[in-house]
Order: sequence, then structure tokens, then C-alpha cells
Amino acid sequence: MFVENQIYMKKIFTLLLIFSLSFQLSAKEGMWLPHLIAQLNYSDMQRMGLQISAEEIYSANKSSLKDAVVHFNGGCTGELISGKGLLLTNHHCGYSQIQSHSTLENNYLEDGFWAMSQEEELANPNLYAAIIREIKDVSNLILKGTTAEMDGATRDSIIEMNARALLETVKAEQPGLEFDLKDFFFGNQFLLISKVLYTDVRLVGAPPSSIGKYGKDTDNWMWPRHTGDFSLFRVYADANNQPADYSEDNQPYVPAQHLKVSVAGVREGDFTMVYGFPGSTNQYLPASEVANTVNEYNPFRISIRDKILMVLDRKMRADEAASLKYASKFARISNSWKRWKGEILGIERTNALEVLKEEEALFKQMCGAIPELNSEKDLVAEMDALYAKRVPVNMERYAYIEVGYYGIEAFRHVLGYSKLIELAEAGDEEALKNEAERMIKRMEGFQKNYDQELDRLVAINTLPIYLETIKTKPGPVVSKLQQKGSDKWVEAISDYFKDAPYFKEDFVTNLRKNPAKMAKKIAEDDIYSLSLEMYEHFFEVLNPATTTINLEIEVLQARYVRALQRAFPKKSFYPDANSTLRVSYGKVMPYEARDAVNYSAQTTLSGVMEKYVPGDYEFDLPAKLIELYENKDYGPYGENGKMPVCFVATNHTTGGNSGSPALNANGELIGLNFDRAWDGVMSDMYFDPSICRNVMVDLRYVLFIIDKLGGAGYLVDEMDIATVHPSESKTVKTDEAKSMAEPVKEGSQG
Ligand code: ARG
Ligand code: ASP
Repeated sequence: MFVENQIYMKKIFTLLLIFSLSFQLSAKEGMWLPHLIAQLNYSDMQRMGLQISAEEIYSANKSSLKDAVVHFNGGCTGELISGKGLLLTNHHCGYSQIQSHSTLENNYLEDGFWAMSQEEELANPNLYAAIIREIKDVSNLILKGTTAEMDGATRDSIIEMNARALLETVKAEQPGLEFDLKDFFFGNQFLLISKVLYTDVRLVGAPPSSIGKYGKDTDNWMWPRHTGDFSLFRVYADANNQPADYSEDNQPYVPAQHLKVSVAGVREGDFTMVYGFPGSTNQYLPASEVANTVNEYNPFRISIRDKILMVLDRKMRADEAASLKYASKFARISNSWKRWKGEILGIERTNALEVLKEEEALFKQMCGAIPELNSEKDLVAEMDALYAKRVPVNMERYAYIEVGYYGIEAFRHVLGYSKLIELAEAGDEEALKNEAERMIKRMEGFQKNYDQELDRLVAINTLPIYLETIKTKPGPVVSKLQQKGSDKWVEAISDYFKDAPYFKEDFVTNLRKNPAKMAKKIAEDDIYSLSLEMYEHFFEVLNPATTTINLEIEVLQARYVRALQRAFPKKSFYPDANSTLRVSYGKVMPYEARDAVNYSAQTTLSGVMEKYVPGDYEFDLPAKLIELYENKDYGPYGENGKMPVCFVATNHTTGGNSGSPALNANGELIGLNFDRAWDGVMSDMYFDPSICRNVMVDLRYVLFIIDKLGGAGYLVDEMDIATVHPSESKTVKTDEAKSMAEPVKEGSQG
């Protein structure tokens, strides 16, 4: 008995050792929950150089750095950088607001915008900034009444009931706050997040796009990078500093805390942390599903977007009007297209599938060695089977998403007429008339950026892929086309466009004159019928076909995370990103992208100049910037005669982290996160610190542009500027001295 036990302990020990070694590389990865940092990450962060306390990063009761981090309109992050509510985020995050204030005479996108006083700031209806008040674990309350054996659907219904009750209570108790109830680790953990929503957020400044979007799609996802991707807003509140909708009487919001801005700069090896709202990641997928993603889903979606982008690119190069109309559509479609390509390469280059399979084998061994985990030893195989089962339907879903939703614009547009048709059938004249007017407005907005011939080309290039892919219960129109045979498709699709009423000159006049008649015509139109059928097929056939599998997958994934946590109790686990507040930390680090290709961690203004192509659509520059460069007029923002522009570090980030503050060891703002380097964008599934890098604008470049280029130095005066680099401000505190004296134990970071 004793001997057996010893062997058992030894086996576990060896496995743990292998495991901690295999995870050693990725020890710094993770998007951590701020309220757990003290418990899980703090000693690790300190070892890496952090000099402030965990409470200064997050505290539920005292003001902390979290009070300066805002969720910017739900999709991006921003940060407060003055005691007067000044908010910094990316240019690409404030893009639609900047665009909405731009006219041909005052083209802020092109020329930039700088409010020279508070009166000149521009209000933005429908824009909000949310600040997190508290993060609270409510797992026990939410999971009350559920059991491990329950099926997914029953469990979900109990959770939903508990959640509703809890939300009702807290909303009644704290009426000024908004609440999110979020699930973590596939429903193993629930957090209640309270936040304050500020709805008066005004535009203060933006550089010209030739700086804020420098390099456009060519440089997107790329390192070395030279983009000044920032814009400035200001949060306003009522006389009592409470959130309020726009009013002239509102005052700049006085935040509980705002960030100090450092001009002391960054050096290789410096500690950095990124505080923000990452959107979504998939860190606990089995190797098989990562393989499905890079072997099936990505190539398929890329191949459809290849066609769309090819059609767009050809036309945009030849036709300036089309190029203007399609710039933003092109950017939207190419953004993920490029990321998916990078993911495939990154997974390959890091041997991720092999590494993940080894980890799975180890997990299986641990399950064999630990009695209470015996039942989980085939868990990964079960997940593999479910994910494999989902592939064919998912391919059909993606075919719709890429072709029907992102691809053919007319298909998405015509769906909007369903209400008109409904009203016409119901015979409600008055409502029909109003609806027709609403659709005319919509049509006019749509036509502004629409090119019918271009759309037809997209359709004849992509719809065939959809028709070839759909196997699950196709509707009558699709079936008929499929039976016709692929050699007839191009002609048929072209006819659809020729016959469609929407593009005829008298469409608007007729719709206004006789909406009932036009509604009937639309209802019989081929584009409308096909688009509606595809849409309904997606929601009524394809999605339900995955719902059941998804529920089963969720249950297994939840078990997998629980089992991992028990198999490797010394390892800290972080939940997938889900648009909640997180902290990532790492170091400013160069990297080797490929054999003999080494990238430095910093770029400078001379690199901006190297890329400059006068008059170019992507690489043109404002004359003023060139002049500042030639005169080396960098003010206090340059360093050794150079103007720093961007830098990279090993912080684990994803979409949604755009606009996040990058902070140094003292918690001072040194960078503004906006992208990742292409070589490592597979970090959503697999983080490899050797090549995964987040890309930030150097705060000194931001200040230089505001002050020297924009002439809005009064904004810099509003900020608290720190001038001492953390390495010089370092005072070794007693507890830190103690922890530095202790030997570092691997695998015990938590
Ligand atoms: N790649 C960055 C992100 O995913 C920036 C996107 C905006 N820029 C662009 N050229 N599309 O959001
Ligand atoms: N560019 C992304 C964003 O807008 C950030 C990223 O994916 O790294 O959130």
C-alpha cells in the first residue's frame, strides 16, 4: 500500500513537472480578472517589474486604476487621462464619430480635428463610455439548484431563473448602476459586474487619417508599424458629477482616478500591462477544433473573401468614385481576412497542434493517475467527436455569413423590405405609406455607397460557393438553382440583377406613388425571394442544427476546464475573453518572426518617412508632419534626436483591447494599444510568447501630434505628466525585497 502510494505520488510529480515545463513558455499569457490579481498574478507581476500594489490596480472600495479605464461604446476601450474627463482611445474606435462630423468643407477625417476650447467640442448621440464599479463572484447564487449531471438545457433554464431574480434585486437596490451578469469558464463561474454609463461624450481631437490610419490596409496587422491610431473625447456629467444625457449645462466629468501620462518612454525589457475589454477568445479548444479552424473554417472563409476583395480591389483601383464608396467595406472585410491568414501561419509555425496534443496526452495521463478524474480521461476524445460533427453544418453557416451577410450587399439590403410587404398584405394604408418613406430614406443612404455592377460581380463570384455548399434542407429557390447546374448560375444571377426593381430609375417615385404595388413587385422579385429564403434557412435550419451540438460542447468544455484545474492545481487559469475588464501583462520585447527575420520593439518617425509615398491612398503624409520631422521639432517628446512612434510587447490582447491603456511598472500611461503583429494573431487560440506581440502607439507620439501638429498643447497641460522612468524611480519596498530574496518556484505562480 505504502509503496503503491509512493509510486503514485512520484508519477504525479513527474507529470506535474513535465506539465509546468511545457507551460513555462506561456507563463505570461492570459487576460486576467482584475479582482483576482492579488491572488493569482501579483507576485509574478512584481517579479517582472511591477512597482505598484494590487490594490492600486483594482479595488472595490477605494479609487484605483480601474476607475480610469472605460468601455468605449461596448466594442473598444478608452482611458481617462485628465481630471476633466479627457478620454483617449483609437482613431479607428472613434472613426464613425469623426466621420459623422465630417463634411466636404470640414473634412475631419482627412484634415484632423482639434477643439481649441470646450465650446468647440462635438456632441455624439448614441456614444457611451462605461466605467466599472465592482466585480463580484455570484456563482453560488446563479448555480443554486443545478447539478453536475443535469443536461445543458435544464441547467440553462435554472441559471436563467436565478439570474433574473438576482438582477431584479440588485437593480432595485442600486438604481443608478447598470449590471452585467457574465459567465466564465463555460458556465462554471458567474460574475456580476456593476458599471456606470456616461452618455455625454464629446469629440475633442483627432489627427488626420494620414496619421491616425497611416498605412491603412497594407499595414493593418503588421509590424513594423507607424500609425498614430488615436483620438480624443471628453466625458461630461451633470452638476453633481453624475451621468446625464447631453446638455449644455453638463460639466466635464471628474473621474475618481485618471491616468498619469509618462514621457519617460519605454525600453526593451520594461514591464507593461494592458488594462481593457478584450472581446472574445478560444483558449480551451482541443487541438482538433484548432485544426478545424485553421484547416477548414479559415481557408473557406478566406476563399470567399478573396473573391470579394479581388472584385473590389480591381474596381477601386480603376475608379475613384468606387474607391471612395467602398473604402470602409473593404477595410471591414479585409480585417478578419488578413487575421485568419495570419492565424493559419502562426499555428503552423509554432507547431501549436503538436504542443496541444502533447498537453492533451498529459491531461489524459493525469486523469488516469488521479482517481477522481478517472471518469474524464476520454473527455478530449468526446469533445473531438462533437466538434467534428459540427464541421459540415458550420461550413454551411459560414457560407451564408460570408456570401449572404458580408458579401452581396443587395441581399442584405432587400431584407429590409419585408415589413413593407407585410403591411401591404395587411392593407394598412397609412402605415404602408410611412414604411415606404422610411425605406426610401434607407435606400438613399444605401445607394450613396453602392455600385450595382460591382455587387453583381461579387454575386456571380460568391453565390456559386454558397450553392455548392448548402446540403442541409435547402429551400425551393436554392434547390431549383442547384438542379439547374452550375453552368447556368452566372447567367441566372446576372438576370436577377437586371430584373430587380430597386435599381430602376423610377423605383423611388413608384414606391412613393404606389407602395402596395411596389411591395407586390418586390415580393415577387428574385433577389428578394432568394435572399429571404437564405436568411430564413440560416436561422431556421442551420442555426438550430448547431444549437444542440453547441449545448453539448459547452457542457464538455465546462467539465474540461474543471478537470484541468483539478489535474493541475498549481497552475493559474484565466477565462476566455468575453468583453469584461481584464489585465494582461508582459514586457517590451523584440521578436524573431522567421528564421533570421528579427524585429525591433520600437519604431520612430524616420520609419514613417521611409514609408511615405506622396499622394498615395495609404502612405501620404501631412506637410506639417514632414516639416516637423525635417526640423527635428519634437519638443519634450523626442528621445536622443528621434521621435518614437509605436512599440510592441508580449501582452496577451485581442479585438476589443483597441484603445486600451498600456501602463508601465508605476501604472503610468506609456502606450495606446491598437493592434497585434501578424505573426502572432493566433493568440486567440494559442499564445506563444516568442512571437505574439501587441502593438501600441507610443504616448510620446500621441502628445507630439496633439501639441506640435494639432497645436492643442492646452490638452497636454491638462494631463499629469510623469518624467521619470520606472527604473529610476524604483524604491525597493520591504515585501518586494523579501520576494526578490526568495528563489522563484516554477509553476507556483498563483
Ligand atoms: N487590426 C486592427 C483591429 O482588429 C485595426 C483595424 C482597423 N484598421 C483597419 N485598417 N481596418 O481592430
Ligand atoms: N485591432 C483590434 C481592436 O480593434 C485589436 C486586436 O485585435 O489586437 O480591438
